[in-house]
Amino acid sequence: MQQKIILVTGGAGYIGSHTCVALAQAGYRPLLFDNFSNSDPSVIERLTQLIGPSLLVLRGDIRDLATLKEIFQTYPCYAVIHLAGVKAVGESVAKPLDYYDINVTGSLVLLKAMKQAGVSRLVFSSSAAVYGEKTIPPFQEQALLDPINPYGRSKLMIEKIINDLYHANTLQSVLSLRYFNPIGAHPSGFIGETPTGTPNNLLPYLMQVAAGIRKKLFIFGNDYPTADGTAVRDYIHVMDLAQGHVLALQKTEQREGCWTFNLGRGRGSSVLEVIDAFEQASGQNIPYEVIQRRPGDVAASWADPTAAQQQLGWSATYNLEMMCAHSWHWQCHLDSLKVQRK
Ligand code: WQD
Repeated sequence: MQQKIILVTGGAGYIGSHTCVALAQAGYRPLLFDNFSNSDPSVIERLTQLIGPSLLVLRGDIRDLATLKEIFQTYPCYAVIHLAGVKAVGESVAKPLDYYDINVTGSLVLLKAMKQAGVSRLVFSSSAAVYGEKTIPPFQEQALLDPINPYGRSKLMIEKIINDLYHANTLQSVLSLRYFNPIGAHPSGFIGETPTGTPNNLLPYLMQVAAGIRKKLFIFGNDYPTADGTAVRDYIHVMDLAQGHVLALQKTEQREGCWTFNLGRGRGSSVLEVIDAFEQASGQNIPYEVIQRRPGDVAASWADPTAAQQQLGWSATYNLEMMCAHSWHWQCHLDSLKVQRK
C-alpha cells in the first residue's frame, strides 16, 4: 500500500527529527521541510540511517508561499505536521517581532498553501506556554489561557487561527498538541538536540556543562514559591512526544474534528531535581550558580494529560532518569559525530 506522505515543517529540528523517525516506524513517509536555521544539515544523513531512503528532504522557509505551493503540487501530502518556528521563552521577550513573524506569519503562509492545495489535516506544535502563570498546575486543556511571553502568545494565536479554519471548513482535522518540556534523545544516540550558539533551554546547557564545554550552569532564580525555590517544569521524553504526533495523525484517519491535547508526563520537576537526575545519569558533577530570574518564566508548569490518555491513547513512558541518560548518551556521541555547533 502506498505510504501516506506527511509534510513535517521544521523536520530537521529536535522535535521534528524524532517525529520523522516515529512516523516512519508507524508506516508513514515523512517529507522533511526545514530552513536549517536551528539545526545542523548533518542530521539528514543520520536520519537516513534510522529511517532509510524513503525520507524526503526539502530545504526552505515556511514564509515562502511559492515553495510551499510547489511542494503541494509535487507531493500528494496526506497531512501536515507543523513544527517549524522559534521557541525560546527568554529570546521571545527580547525579539517579539521575530517570534510573531516566524511563528504566526509563517503559519499563515503555510495555511494558505494548504488551502490552495486542498490539504486539510493539520497537527500543530503548540506549547504549555499558552497557560501563563494565573493558572495553578496541573493544567487541563480548558484552563485559562493567558500566556506571559511573546512565544506563548504566538502559539495561542496560531491555535485560534487553525480552530477558526476548522469551523470555516477550510481544515477538516486539526490537532493542537501543547508540549510541555521536551528533553532526551533517541536511544540510538544518532539524533538529539543540537542547539546553535548558546543553548536557551535547561537540558542542552546542562549537557554542555557536564561535557566540560561550559564551566557552570546558571540557575535563573531560586526564590520561586516551589519546594526548593527553583522553577518546576513537566519534562517529557522527545520520543514520547513524537509518538503523540503519530497517534494524532491516526486520529485524523478515524474521524474529522478539532482537538487540543496536553503532552506532558503529569508531574513537575524542579531545576535542582533535574540537575540531580542528570548527575546520576552522567556520573558528572554539575557546578551551578543561582542568578536572577529570567524574564517571561513562570514558577511552575505541569500537565494534566488525562485527555490525551483517554482520547489519543497516549501516555509518557520514560521517567526523568531515563530522559537524562538518553540526553547524556547523545552528548557523548555528539563530538564523535562531528556535529558542528555554530
Ligand atoms: C526550564 C527551566 C528556566 C536554562 C521550554 C521552551 C518552550 C516550550 C517549553 C515547547 C526554567 C530554567 C533554563 C538555564 C535555568 N517547549 N533554566 N538555566 O522556558 O520552560 O520552555 O519548554 O513548546 O519551547 O522554551 O524551558 O529549558 O528554557 O527552562 O535555570 O540555563 O530551567 O528558568 O525554569 P521553558 P527551559
